[in-house]
Amino acid sequence: MPKKRILSGMRPTGKLHLGHYVGALENWVKLQDEYESFHLIADYHVLTTSLDTKDVYENSIDMLIDWLACGLDPLKSPMFRQSQIKQHTELNLIFSMLITVNRLERNPTIKDQARDLNIEQVFYGHLGYPVLQTADILLYKGNAVPVGEDQVPHVEISREIARRFNNQYGFVFPEPEALLTKFSRLSGLDGDAKMSKSLGNTILLSDDVETVKQRMKKAAIDPNKLKKDTPGNPDVCTVFSYHKKFNTENIVEIESDCRNGAIGCFDCKMKCSAKISSFLEPIIEKRKHYESRINEVKDILHDGESRGRNIAEQTMIEVREKMNLG
Ligand code: TRP
Repeated sequence: MPKKRILSGMRPTGKLHLGHYVGALENWVKLQDEYESFHLIADYHVLTTSLDTKDVYENSIDMLIDWLACGLDPLKSPMFRQSQIKQHTELNLIFSMLITVNRLERNPTIKDQARDLNIEQVFYGHLGYPVLQTADILLYKGNAVPVGEDQVPHVEISREIARRFNNQYGFVFPEPEALLTKFSRLSGLDGDAKMSKSLGNTILLSDDVETVKQRMKKAAIDPNKLKKDTPGNPDVCTVFSYHKKFNTENIVEIESDCRNGAIGCFDCKMKCSAKISSFLEPIIEKRKHYESRINEVKDILHDGESRGRNIAEQTMIEVREKMNLG
């Protein structure tokens, strides 16, 4: 049995943060042996919310370095930029004929984004975000898409498009499934539901020990824990939610010390930042390795792009044949 395939992607917004790791990257690294994996730098998707492309290349390289530093293995899994494999745009065009505007307007992700970013008029390309994403997945015949919860509605659209194509022209595409991580969301330092660059509530995968400490000092805690020895409620504390992820071995003790007023928030934050920093240490080391060998990083990207392109073209040959466009 050939391995099932994964296609996963992120928009290149620069250096990644812990939320990216917990929501997606950790899972990608784990799954790369079980599945044949493809990792996409969705640089065209950046245009859906910003027309400024000045930093897009640099951000792509920065993101790629974080991927490598976290353990994605370029020998196993090609990594590539969407913009460098023209088959994405070709399949996007074909898929755009297979879904209605109405259906795309019902996509909850676009509604949320329009609200968060105060967008009054949605651009045609932005509405088509999930169509391009479908082309990303199906060009590589992805069976599974490991993403965060927020992407599930997109994957549902991908399934519909795959079905529609197969019914109309004959079977080419699997119906992809979202693979969710159990712990798929890390809240922001300020307690916001999401860690996100635009909210400024992140810890970066590249933050050094001192930066992590400083960031952690600002983290939201139980507002009723006024003093060191006041009993606190870990269920409403952001720092405790990070302990759960990065300090599992001491979680019982932290929880009871907080509830009993046996630990103050400052000490608790310092314990947490120490744990996070020791988790980040090997990632930062690997990042330094790649930063000082930028040509190696570019070679990895170009190699990934040529491997990706070959597979994408094989799929397009099939598509064009089925459609009598060959
Ligand atoms: N929409 C994804 C995000 O914002 C990025 C993305 C683009 C993607 N193409 C994809 C994710 C294909 C998975 C599969 O994070």
